[in-house]
Amino acid sequence: MRKKIVAGNWKMNKSLQEGIELAKEVNNRVKALAPSQTLIILGTPFIHLSEVNKIADSVAISAQNCATEVSGAYTGEVSAAMIASTGCQYVILGHSERRSYYGETDEILQKKVMRALENNLDIIFCVGEVLADREAGKHFDIVKSQLENGLFNLSAEQFTHIIIAYEPVWAIGTGKTATSAQAEEMHQFIRATIASRYGEKTADDTSILYGGSCNAKNADELFSQPNVDGGLIGGASLKADDFLAIINARQKH
Ligand code: 13P
Repeated sequence: MRKKIVAGNWKMNKSLQEGIELAKEVNNRVKALAPSQTLIILGTPFIHLSEVNKIADSVAISAQNCATEVSGAYTGEVSAAMIASTGCQYVILGHSERRSYYGETDEILQKKVMRALENNLDIIFCVGEVLADREAGKHFDIVKSQLENGLFNLSAEQFTHIIIAYEPVWAIGTGKTATSAQAEEMHQFIRATIASRYGEKTADDTSILYGGSCNAKNADELFSQPNVDGGLIGGASLKADDFLAIINARQKH
């Protein structure tokens, strides 16, 4: 059975002290929900990982990126091995902000995926189209090619370590959410695309999250869809009240 997941992506927000405070509050409030059927993941900046890991006993931790290379003279980079050494279990890869602002291509992402898997990190792999692609009716083709070129070189065993996040770029940080019908339609398509490469069982077991202006108000409707297994939350993960409301919406279904 695939997991229900609510993951926060803090992006480049929160000082170390602010991040620890937020993580403590979220962790304690999630603990009070026990037994929770939802996996909660906090995607923090690199420097927060180790400290947040020390206090997190009810939530898991994710990095937001990792290096393409194993180790060595790559000033400013952070390797998958370093991330794993903090106790972190997940890494977000292929986020549209990394693809568009930092030129991360499918080839670069393939390397990052390999480094993450070599270090036993599970991957939240983001896909999604820009507005022009959707308006041109190319959104399915774009997402299919991101899946095929970024991930479909993996073995069936390796693919069990992948969580997909569908994040339409036009919905990220814009306040414009995909409708639940648009999300469900794309999630179904993603699951069918995975099934055609890895079979029905693997596709059924893969968690597919929605991301893009998901908030306390719209989470309930999005999570009511059968193929929407949870959310990857940006802005609304920065306030404990908002994030907990989204977690509660996930728990309901
Ligand atoms: P927002 O929830 O702020 O739109 O961000 C979504 C996102 O990019 C999560 O990775």
